[in-house]
Amino acid sequence: MSGRSVLIRGGTILQPSGRTVADVRIEGDRIVAVGPNLPVAAGSIVLDAGGCWVMPGLVDLHVHLRQPGGEDAETVETGSRAAALGGFTAVLAMPNTSPAQDCVEVVRAVRSFGVRAGLCDVHPAGAITVGRAGETLTDFESLYLEGVRMFTDDGNEVADAAVMRAAFTRAARLPGAVLGQHAECAALVLEGHLHEGRVSALLGLAGRPAEAEEITVARDIALARLTGGRLHILHASTARTVAHAKAAKAEGLDVTIEVTPQHLTLTEDACAGGDPLFKVNPPLRTAADVAALRQGLSAGVIDSVATDHAPHTSSSKAKGFADAPPGMLGLETALSVIFTDLVLPGLLTLEQMVTVMSCQPARIAGLASHGSAVAIKSVANLCIVDPQRSFTVDPAVTASKSRNTPFAGRTLRGKVRHTVLAGVPVVIGEVAQR
Ligand code: DOR
Repeated sequence: MSGRSVLIRGGTILQPSGRTVADVRIEGDRIVAVGPNLPVAAGSIVLDAGGCWVMPGLVDLHVHLRQPGGEDAETVETGSRAAALGGFTAVLAMPNTSPAQDCVEVVRAVRSFGVRAGLCDVHPAGAITVGRAGETLTDFESLYLEGVRMFTDDGNEVADAAVMRAAFTRAARLPGAVLGQHAECAALVLEGHLHEGRVSALLGLAGRPAEAEEITVARDIALARLTGGRLHILHASTARTVAHAKAAKAEGLDVTIEVTPQHLTLTEDACAGGDPLFKVNPPLRTAADVAALRQGLSAGVIDSVATDHAPHTSSSKAKGFADAPPGMLGLETALSVIFTDLVLPGLLTLEQMVTVMSCQPARIAGLASHGSAVAIKSVANLCIVDPQRSFTVDPAVTASKSRNTPFAGRTLRGKVRHTVLAGVPVVIGEVAQR
């Protein structure tokens, strides 16, 4: 990484410690100068940040990149491009691939696809159980040596409490390792398609009760207490999940929690027309749940916004609500949704947005070169956002291979103008460079 020089000019640095008007100079992969009116060195790439926030690159703890096995919906390359355009410099790829990311070979392959795409740091999460079947623990130690820090069977709950207890005990011996739980009690959601409530009754479809999530969350908090293990609650969707997490944190347990943009902004009402675009697990809940999730995020109980970017082909989403797969795109809209629906109305400060979309997820995943201060010597993982730019979400132009965004047709404010990955501008002027 020698020779390349980048100057980010005319922006306002935005980070948890506050805002400063300053240029940023990058040499190789590092920030080497921060200050007003830095001179342009000969041969420098100049990125115009006029009117923009210059922020630590976003970190997403929860994406599905579908490779290997689901390449008709997404590949690591197309998902990485969506990530870079959305301002993400690092993502955790969930292990519900086919074959699953349950061994060193698959983890290594996914990481190498990410390196080859060169648009975003792709960190594979490892499965908790072999084949995500919920029975036999994977070889945590060898996955850990391969760089895995998050273990999860996401898509499935680890239903057996004894298996989960053993997983916590194993992971607790590995510094920085964390178990991510898809908290939906499998036995209670087997047949369900959406939140069990008013709209499921209206559509005559079996539901997934809020209690399914809360039972598993409460159980896993108890197991974290019993084992001294670390728990990360994936895609929280109910008010009582937030209350459980708050109590666990007050008790000093090592519990973190994430929420998605869709669970912060949409309710079960979106499903009333029977459109499978709004089918997701855990399901969209009630307005009271949305209010509690928003409150939990602004109060600092919820640590992180994660997208649960879950691409599905148009043909699979064209099936009826009961037959279509659950999941929604998220990488290209997350920042704009959070900015438009939470920051602009005053529910979250800009500094909190950076904290929950970059700094804290980086810390949870143990990614030392992400979510760091925009300061001399930091690795230059950055995104530059134009807060005045508004756009209408058009599924026809996603970088993702899939089209299943729940925000189609919405006009959002705030768009990523440039993304810099370890000193390399991978998005310039809203255009991916690869
Ligand atoms: O809606 C979902 N889709 N929830 C999950 O947990 C898995 C995901 C997927 O892989 O499509």
